[in-house]
Amino acid sequence: MNFIEYADRDMLAIELANRLAGELKKALLHHETVSLAVPGGTTPGPVFDALCAARLEWERVHVLPTDERWVAQDDPRSNGRMIRERLLVDRAAAARFLPLHAPAETPEQALPDLEAMLAPELPLSLLLLGMGADMHVASLFPDTPAMRAALAPDAPALVALHPEGAPEPRISLTVPVLDGALCKHLVIYGAEKREALDKALYLTPEEAPVTAILNETNVHWAE
Ligand code: 6PG
Repeated sequence: MNFIEYADRDMLAIELANRLAGELKKALLHHETVSLAVPGGTTPGPVFDALCAARLEWERVHVLPTDERWVAQDDPRSNGRMIRERLLVDRAAAARFLPLHAPAETPEQALPDLEAMLAPELPLSLLLLGMGADMHVASLFPDTPAMRAALAPDAPALVALHPEGAPEPRISLTVPVLDGALCKHLVIYGAEKREALDKALYLTPEEAPVTAILNETNVHWAE
């Protein structure tokens, strides 16, 4: 893990967006298309606001969510909607979006089609993750059957899950896909999440899912 501390959240967003743009350009030198997986939640919005204006060949970039809530793609809770509204605008509007969603009643029904869509995108060229204060990443929550399944070295690319107390099912990339990304970035804000990350280092991946993806990951932090 490479921990990078910034003066404030604005600096973090600008510098991280520059870095992601640079890594995308570099990857585009070597590959016809590149894949960029990004989280939902509130953390990445300001990074997206800066990244979407980057001058690069966005038409060769495939953007996908790291996880999705099983709601309609125009629902306010949809990660796809947030990514479309905040990242796939300005120059980045030319990118191709790969939704982790399909018109099926349950995520389980959609898994085969979504896994087939993902296969040509692997390994991911770039991964951006957020983290919950409970140390979850993507939709891999501590001490859950989905996390246990997602940790297996031969786990499929996606897992469907029904988080306790959550209003809808979810779908998430699994650990081999997340950890296997060629460039990995985790962005966290505030003292609470920094403490959670410090604590995670002494726990197992099942207890603290973030630890499953920390190897060679750049962690970007601002108060
Ligand atoms: C999601 C995520 C999730 C998120 C964390 C942090 O869909 O909610 O992909 O893993 O990154 O929960 O969320 P915040 O950025 O809102 O704190």
